[in-house]
Amino acid sequence: MRQSSLVVMANRLPVDDSVAPDGACEWRRSPGGLVSALHPLLKHTPATWIGWAGGTGPAPALPDVDGVRLHTVPLTPEDFRDHYEGFANATLWPLYHDAVEQPEHHRRWWEAYQRVNRRFAEAAAAVTEPGGVVWVQDYHLQLVPALLRDLRPDLRIGFFLHVPFPPPELFMQLPRRAELLRGILGADLVGFQRAHAAHNFAQLVAKVIGVPATDRQVEVDGRTVRVGAFPVSIDTAEMAALAARPDVVARADRLRNDLGDPEHVILSVDRMDYTKGIEQRLKAYSELIASGDVKVQDTVMVQVAVPSRERVGQYQILRDRVEREVGRINGEFGRVGEPAIHYLTQPFDRAELAALYRMADVLAVTPLRDGMNLVAKEYVAARVDDSGTLLLSEFAGAAAELSQAYLVNPHDLEGLKQGLLAALQADPADAAARMRAMREHLHRYDIRSWARSYLSALDENGSLLHEMI
Ligand code: UDP
Ligand code: G6P
Repeated sequence: MRQSSLVVMANRLPVDDSVAPDGACEWRRSPGGLVSALHPLLKHTPATWIGWAGGTGPAPALPDVDGVRLHTVPLTPEDFRDHYEGFANATLWPLYHDAVEQPEHHRRWWEAYQRVNRRFAEAAAAVTEPGGVVWVQDYHLQLVPALLRDLRPDLRIGFFLHVPFPPPELFMQLPRRAELLRGILGADLVGFQRAHAAHNFAQLVAKVIGVPATDRQVEVDGRTVRVGAFPVSIDTAEMAALAARPDVVARADRLRNDLGDPEHVILSVDRMDYTKGIEQRLKAYSELIASGDVKVQDTVMVQVAVPSRERVGQYQILRDRVEREVGRINGEFGRVGEPAIHYLTQPFDRAELAALYRMADVLAVTPLRDGMNLVAKEYVAARVDDSGTLLLSEFAGAAAELSQAYLVNPHDLEGLKQGLLAALQADPADAAARMRAMREHLHRYDIRSWARSYLSALDENGSLLHEMI
């Protein structure tokens, strides 16, 4: 078996095995921000990426993708149901996002979570060179660091959580809270998106495990585990270059023309997820139209809502509700050939997204809770002429860095409406100054600076890693 000195592990590989309408198997980019962040970083490096390829059949043998070695971990139908849909996405996901939907607890899901984590740990133990680095990503794999340390004490092990880490009073609801914390503590470095997540983690470790813990480090089993905040980012230069490409600029113009060349275009791009605040945003928009503050003759909203985790009940309910509401708003306020909301559920590729970002005057990103939200950062990177305004939820991790955005509390309907109006009516010079400041920030703190700061904290002597990233 080929081995690598840097192994990155995430529940998903960067490609997803999806079935085309004619029943044939086709490969496409996996959904979500984790893949968007890691893919540009790892391509053309000698790293190995361990993950699940989508589907529940036997593990397919995958070719390298953009020079990255892929190592597949298969999920059976039971693993998919109980680990992925169950423990990961119906227990942990809602709990870690402020329990905006009720987390469910089932013993069978926990068993599957343990089983799948063990399989991932065994895969990493097999494909990592002696003394190598394994970087474990996200909430699906929180037991892997400790399992892997038992199998391969020679490795440096990092863990990074892309989603929020909840306050102690929520985490304490988990029946297996001690096992989860012990799993994470197998790492040498535990990274979070924001400082208050590191603080929550330290408080929990002190309380549940009973060992000395600060926001910077934990002493456990005779080892020091370092803890810190490393806000994830994007390939800013790549997005800016894409948005400046003549074919993308031309596509943005055509899109705007197809929308009837309105005075204002508001764009939102989300996975169809109850954490994204889609319903609250639609309500705010519809009230603004009803009150006459926004006129559909001169303002158009484009909502991209890519279906996600479609068999999980809470996601099905959300999709039904969103589609009913979009139908209601268009029925009530649209005209022939002039819908109030253009609603799109198909996933777009990078170039089409860049064209959408270029075309939109306002990007409305209003999650109830979000670890980071890379869509917000991508929009800023794409506004190469400093035009456009970003309406951003205070509860997105990105708000800590993009403080020049129009910040709103998505739970406050009136505040959301006022924020949307302010973003639509922004003074161009003020808006340009805000956008410029945010763009400069993202050019400085891009995905490479994220990886460098994390990996240099994980592996102080790792010259190989510094060369790679
Ligand atoms: N995305 C995409 N095509 C789409 C919609 C979204 O490639 O049609 C990408 C988007 O560019 C971003 C990621 O999906 O990089 C979403 O990441 P984000 O952090 O905003 O949210 P997540 O889905 O991870 O919760
Ligand atoms: C978020 C998570 C990722 C996940 C992505 C897409 O970004 O942090 O780990 O891959 O959503 O969700 P999915 O369930 O389709 O993998």
